[in-house]
Amino acid sequence: MRLVFCCHFLLLITGQIVFKFASVSAEISYSSTFFIFGDSSVDPGNNNHIKTIPENQANYKPYGRNGFFKDPTGRFSDGRIIVDFLAEYARLPPIAPYLEPSADHSHGVNFASGGAGILSTTNQGLAIDLETQLTYFDQVQKLLEDKLGSAQAEELLSNAVYFISMGSNDYLGGYLGNPKMQELHHPEEYVGMVMGNLTKAIQELYEKGARKFGFLGLSPLGCLPVLRAMNPKADGGCFEQANALAMAHNNALETVLKNLEYLLKDFKYCNSDFYNWLQDRMNNPSNYGFKEGVNACCGTGPYGGVFTCGGTKKLTTYELCENADDFVWWDSFHPTERIHEQFAKALWDGPSSLVWPFNLQDLFLNKEKLTIADIVDNNPDYQQIF
Ligand SMILES: *[C@@H]1O[C@H](CO)[C@@H](O)[C@H](O)[C@H]1NC(C)=O
Repeated sequence: MRLVFCCHFLLLITGQIVFKFASVSAEISYSSTFFIFGDSSVDPGNNNHIKTIPENQANYKPYGRNGFFKDPTGRFSDGRIIVDFLAEYARLPPIAPYLEPSADHSHGVNFASGGAGILSTTNQGLAIDLETQLTYFDQVQKLLEDKLGSAQAEELLSNAVYFISMGSNDYLGGYLGNPKMQELHHPEEYVGMVMGNLTKAIQELYEKGARKFGFLGLSPLGCLPVLRAMNPKADGGCFEQANALAMAHNNALETVLKNLEYLLKDFKYCNSDFYNWLQDRMNNPSNYGFKEGVNACCGTGPYGGVFTCGGTKKLTTYELCENADDFVWWDSFHPTERIHEQFAKALWDGPSSLVWPFNLQDLFLNKEKLTIADIVDNNPDYQQIF
């Protein structure tokens, strides 16, 4: 109520004062710390430092081909990935991998690992699972408390933005590629397990002081070139069972986030519809400046869906397109830098049909709207009612 009153008042005062007000608001203060958890969609090179298979690494040519970073970094892209753009929009440098020796982590830490799952059973031993990523976060929290003292560390952690992009590997290698897991669990039950573990991780981060969360929804997994090539129907369409799992996961995540927002004071989130956004680009590439929505730029076989794109994989030969910017897909699993950039823009300040209830700019700028929970907490009249 006070806020509304203040703005009516402002309209009445002189132009000079309004101008002064505008110049103050131009010096917007951004949250200065960014923590990232996830899989190959956001791994900036943590897997360069672990023992794993070549499929889970991307620190060789032609990865990074567009030369934004001088050499291949370990990013699963022809250049940058979504979190590089998000950091740029938040006026931060690219956030370095947790495992990179002597990296500058003063603006945040990226814990993501290619091949990793929310479940520790997914690609076990070949990637850094979510639980381990959280134990690494604990180490960072301890260092911050030692360096800043607990009060300042708490403030930093509560102002930071936590971005999570994970789940694809749980459904692909962890379930569809794992007949034993399919025997043990019905799809609905498996989605429940994945979501239970993700919810637990979000709650743990909240208990450690995290308040602002961003999520990259799962893509239509069955339309990845690798799954299109494996589609049992072999009709050139998407692998429907994989799409159904991704959709079930996305729906369950939305329910979980709504509940957490209701239950946890000051919990703020940005969820996103990557699924329909990406499907639209695959189906209508020319509407968005692409020429090819189905086939991978780098790979072999139908749709470039056989995962060969350099490195020391069993099959070392691969085809490579001329201009990755024309393509939605970079390799059999991962989109091009151009897709990363376009969706980063959507996450940053896109419409509420794509990102909701907050976009990432709101979270980084501390511009969050009041939630029902805040009103209930802060207004004595409401407290009497509830
Ligand atoms: C987490 O996943 C494991 C399987 O890896 C499962 O046994 C457990 O019930 C899940 N936890 C929750 C809270 O759902």
